[in-house]
Amino acid sequence: MRALMFDRYGSESVLQLRELPVPVPGANEVQVKVTVAALNPVDFKLRAGMFRLIRKPTLPAITGKDFAGRITALGGDVHGFTIGQRVFGSVNPMGGHGSCVETLVIGTDLIGATPENISDDIAACLSVAAGTALQALVTAAQLKAGQSVLITGASGGVGASAVQIARSIGAKVTGVCGTANVDYVKNIGADNVIDYKKADWRNAGNIFDVIFDAAGASTFGEARSQLSPTGFYLNTTPTLRMFLTSKFLPLVSKRRCVPVMMKTDARLQSELARLAASNVIVPLIARVISLEDVAGAQRDMEEGKIHGKVCVRISE
Ligand SMILES: NC(=O)c1ccc[n+]([C@@H]2O[C@H](COP(=O)([O-])OP(=O)(O)OC[C@H]3O[C@@H](n4cnc5c(N)ncnc54)[C@H](OP(=O)(O)O)[C@@H]3O)[C@@H](O)[C@H]2O)c1
Repeated sequence: MRALMFDRYGSESVLQLRELPVPVPGANEVQVKVTVAALNPVDFKLRAGMFRLIRKPTLPAITGKDFAGRITALGGDVHGFTIGQRVFGSVNPMGGHGSCVETLVIGTDLIGATPENISDDIAACLSVAAGTALQALVTAAQLKAGQSVLITGASGGVGASAVQIARSIGAKVTGVCGTANVDYVKNIGADNVIDYKKADWRNAGNIFDVIFDAAGASTFGEARSQLSPTGFYLNTTPTLRMFLTSKFLPLVSKRRCVPVMMKTDARLQSELARLAASNVIVPLIARVISLEDVAGAQRDMEEGKIHGKVCVRISE
């Protein structure tokens, strides 16, 4: 079977299509024929070795995390899944595993059943982006109806899902994005939109119950004056300083600083499936490509040239 792999860190040129044996599922695992993989910024960050000091993936590694497909074999002790069932999920890349591959094996704790009314393209786009938004706004910040939330990167995979989730909760949503995407962010449900190329939300003088920096473009110190006295600040690109602030802030303040570290599990996948099936989360698909085009698409993502998700069609 074909797999898109890298055996050293570097630019997209390190990616190579290779032939690998089809993997066999172990206990509590299923084998999945991948129909669609979806790309995320974490894919090019892992490939470039950006996390190697904190979490070193095994090399050689298959690129990609998110996927949708169909179960083709069951390992031992698997309950609640059947051969032929459509599933989606996100691979843990630390053991060199990835989603840009024809067949993968994955623990049943990392997948969910794909709802009948959503396509594999949509299902593949859910786990990392919408999963991060859901864990940040619902699990961590416990966003409630009537609260005000500011979401940066509101036109991106994480931020757009966050706008849609916050809107469905009944929060008052301010989205931050670039000029070209202002109309899109309004259309998916933001009450107000700030164009970061023309104005800085950090100086706008508004107060929010939750600030979700999905673009990772600010610090807690910069955001503090825009937070309510019990407000939550969350950031998807955590720094050491942010982790320290998250530990010590509760000693002196009712505000909270949350370095977002998305963790996928079966419960998260089933909540994402429910939200996608009821059209709360509707990912914007920018490109549908083949395995041969992944390297170019990762480069374009890295250069900020793609607005929306990239789906990689691998099989029917
Ligand atoms: N820690 C975690 O667990 C975790 C999980 C998922 C993602 N992430 C990280 O979160 C970030 C976003 O991921 P994504 O999938 O949403 O990426 P994406 O789809 O590429 O979107 C990034 C968005 O950020 C916006 N942006 C760029 N500069 C900005 C600024 N100065 N102010 C406000 N918005 C700005 C862009 O808006 P325009 O295109 O409109 O200019 C773009 O839509 C990435 O760095 C990713 O690695 C972290």
